[in-house]
Amino acid sequence: MRQKLLALFQESHGRLPEVIARAPGRIEFIGNHTDYNGGTVLGASIDRGVWVALAARPDGRRNFVSDLTGRLVTLAADTPVRQEGAAAWVNYPLGVLAALPAFGLPVPEGFDFAVVSNLPPGAGLSSSAALELASALAFLAATGRRDVPPATLAQIGRQAENNFVGVPCGILDQGVSAFGRKNHLVYIDCRGPRFEAVPLPPDAHFWIFNTHTQHALVDGLYTARHRECLAAAAALGVALLADVTPARLAAELASLPSIEGRRAQHVVGEIARVDQTVAALRRGDLAEAGRLLTASHRSSQTLFENSTPALDLLVDALTGRPEVFGARLTGGGFGGAVMALTSPRFDAAAASAVAAAYAEKFGTAPEVLHLRTGDGAAVL
Ligand code: GLA
Repeated sequence: MRQKLLALFQESHGRLPEVIARAPGRIEFIGNHTDYNGGTVLGASIDRGVWVALAARPDGRRNFVSDLTGRLVTLAADTPVRQEGAAAWVNYPLGVLAALPAFGLPVPEGFDFAVVSNLPPGAGLSSSAALELASALAFLAATGRRDVPPATLAQIGRQAENNFVGVPCGILDQGVSAFGRKNHLVYIDCRGPRFEAVPLPPDAHFWIFNTHTQHALVDGLYTARHRECLAAAAALGVALLADVTPARLAAELASLPSIEGRRAQHVVGEIARVDQTVAALRRGDLAEAGRLLTASHRSSQTLFENSTPALDLLVDALTGRPEVFGARLTGGGFGGAVMALTSPRFDAAAASAVAAAYAEKFGTAPEVLHLRTGDGAAVL
């Protein structure tokens, strides 16, 4: 990827970069829509991600290029306007630049910027958070700041997403990309937020089945779920759903409108499952971890209503196999991908059988990825 990045930079900007930073994509292991509810979540940083190269320019111009479009986007430093259409990807680095002053950090004026990625877009592996973190590290290194702690990087990325891109996401994607560690999961208590590494048992394998489907209104649906969760919390008299215990919710469920009730049941149940999963992983019980992952999916399917028939078919086909510990939708939902936690015995032939069952019903095969964990965001 480094060679590809250097070639793109040279070809687009006619010189070599001064700094290169990389940030990984992530798998949401368990903890679906818990982050913005103040709950807990577990994620894994993967060995694929986004690489950003940067060199300062004295003339104040900002030139962006990506291997996805290949087209140069040129902006003046004093016009950080939100971009539309093919240039919309620039909103992620622009959002980071807009967020830096709030953290007391310097903003580079002019620069040449290039990005390459080996994360498949639309697979729910969070290419946007990876782009935010790699951009933040490159901007900060260019202004002589290589000392910014990962918790701050994660907050900068989240603020870019919330305030500039306009998605009311939680800290999951940016937190995992910042704190990821090979052979570990990242546990986040989103309230602090507090981050902790949880060792992954050696026999745990991850597979991703990307449907390449996405609900046309996916951003609007995510925002709607966010709103419904806040409404449920307000109806229960708390700031965030993480403040409600399962016992209290059970006692008060009948007083909630039915949609808010189902959303609250999912989030409160999911927070409990995250903590049970951490305990299962710490004692090396992958069968129990897998059971909790599948329970998470069933809760998405029936209570949070962010699954789709395509995702459900994959979960059904996967969980019918003895080498699969569990499977669930990963990320926001409404399309995207399913992840499976498997033993090493799950192989390409098993993955093809699942893909074939999917293709028979939906006409096209899903993209299949066998992913490994990888380290978190860093300047290279
Ligand atoms: C997306 C968001 C995250 C999180 C998940 C759902 O990935 O970016 O913050 O809310 O959806 O758990």
